[in-house]
Amino acid sequence: MTKPQATVTIRRATVEDAPVCGKICYDAFCTLNRAHNFPCDFPGPEVTTGVLSMMFSAPDFYCVVAESEGRVVGSNCLDERSVIAGVGPITVDPAVQSAGIGRVLMRAVMERAKERRAAGVRLVQAAFHNRSLSLYTSLGFDVQEPLACMQGKTQQRNVAGCDVRAALSADVNACNALSYRVHGFERGTELEQAIEAGTAKVLERDGRITGYATGLAFFAHATAETNPDLKALIASAESFGGSGILVPTRNSDLFRWCLANGLRVVQPMTLMSMGLYNQPAGPFLPSISF
Ligand SMILES: CC(C)(COP(=O)(O)OP(=O)(O)OC[C@H]1O[C@@H](n2cnc3c(N)ncnc32)[C@H](O)[C@@H]1OP(=O)(O)O)[C@@H](O)C(=O)NCCC(=O)NCCS
Repeated sequence: MTKPQATVTIRRATVEDAPVCGKICYDAFCTLNRAHNFPCDFPGPEVTTGVLSMMFSAPDFYCVVAESEGRVVGSNCLDERSVIAGVGPITVDPAVQSAGIGRVLMRAVMERAKERRAAGVRLVQAAFHNRSLSLYTSLGFDVQEPLACMQGKTQQRNVAGCDVRAALSADVNACNALSYRVHGFERGTELEQAIEAGTAKVLERDGRITGYATGLAFFAHATAETNPDLKALIASAESFGGSGILVPTRNSDLFRWCLANGLRVVQPMTLMSMGLYNQPAGPFLPSISF
């Protein structure tokens, strides 16, 4: 049987769309998570509205809404702060899901990434969600890394020889160089914004920067030279923002250390990519974007 397809138009999101889209985003994630017995990713619609207000008004995000029969039914965002673009959050009103709207919203940001000649596009999806996994794969995204979203506070509070401190503007070049060595590109704009927000940290070992984090949170990323460096950054956090940090589970040493330190797995997730992807040459924690 052919499923009904919605008639959808796409337009650029404005900050005035944030309350409606924030409510849809909250409902879409909570409905999905509840159906699989996972906690909701956000405490309430005011949080998703706040996140989307920020993205819809930021100059380096490209955000779109889908309209059907005169009302907004979903939204999607493309983070354009680095040469790799990050997708999400994409959400469709639960009342009209599975009617092709998500595919149209994905195509809109993929088209934009192509126009802007992004070297690659990445996203993180809930691994238990059959629909998003199938949708992204059919659109050309490849599975790159299984992740565990983890929450808690590590019993071990520091790592010998590793000093964690707040990141400063003067650290940006060293952090960018580290990101370039590990990932092949830098995320300096995100780092500068995190320094301004007061969430960024650097790790010093033997008198030089061997790791940094824009924060220890769902919406933050971290990159390090070695696992002890990354462990020191994780151990420095009193708590993790949002649903938690995203630990690549193929990094067994790091994942086992997190478990032995009392962190709990909240939900499995998957890092997916299209276009350029090189295996990172060091340990990292992606953000919920990539
Ligand atoms: C994920 C989401 C945005 C997709 O939007 P949508 O409008 O429901 O999805 P679409 O109808 O456009 O596309 C779904 C596709 O997956 C396919 N699909 C769904 N379930 C499937 C399954 N179990 N196996 C294989 N394919 C499946 C559908 O057939 C469809 O593909 P088609 O267009 O080739 O038929 C939406 O469901 C949503 O908001 N979910 C909750 C929030 C969320 O998970 N967001 C994504 C975060 S990463």
